[in-house]
Amino acid sequence: MSEEVSRRGFLSEGAGLGALAAGLLLGERQAAAAGEAQVVALSFSEHKDLAKVGGSAQATLPDKAKTEIIVAHPETDRFVCCQGRCTHANGVLAYDAKLKKFVCPDHGSRFELDGAVANGPAKKPLRSFDADQAVVVRGDKT
Ligand code: FES
Repeated sequence: MSEEVSRRGFLSEGAGLGALAAGLLLGERQAAAAGEAQVVALSFSEHKDLAKVGGSAQATLPDKAKTEIIVAHPETDRFVCCQGRCTHANGVLAYDAKLKKFVCPDHGSRFELDGAVANGPAKKPLRSFDADQAVVVRGDKT
């Protein structure tokens, strides 16, 4: 289950709990300064597939739009995150570990890990999010 906390609150709490080693921290690239945005926690204990290289997880940001995201673990200690819905016709994206791409099963669009379109029919890139190395996904400020 996800947990909403402030980034500042998480970081201070997380450091005390040693949580930085247990999960994933993601921040929206265009986000406001630290401490202003909400976050959602993704723990490896609850997202076991994400803990392994090649794994992924779906989550929802605590923003007004309840933005669905997909988080992938393509390489050791590297996490990437993009919106979880295809820009073509809103298909639910999956992570293909062999291709190292986000893929849409509906009509075959593929996206690079930074959200760029690799193959259509989608023409618009995915919204992407920065990934650090702790346990939180930060959503839009609402
Ligand atoms: S909805 Fe994703 S390719 Fe059409």
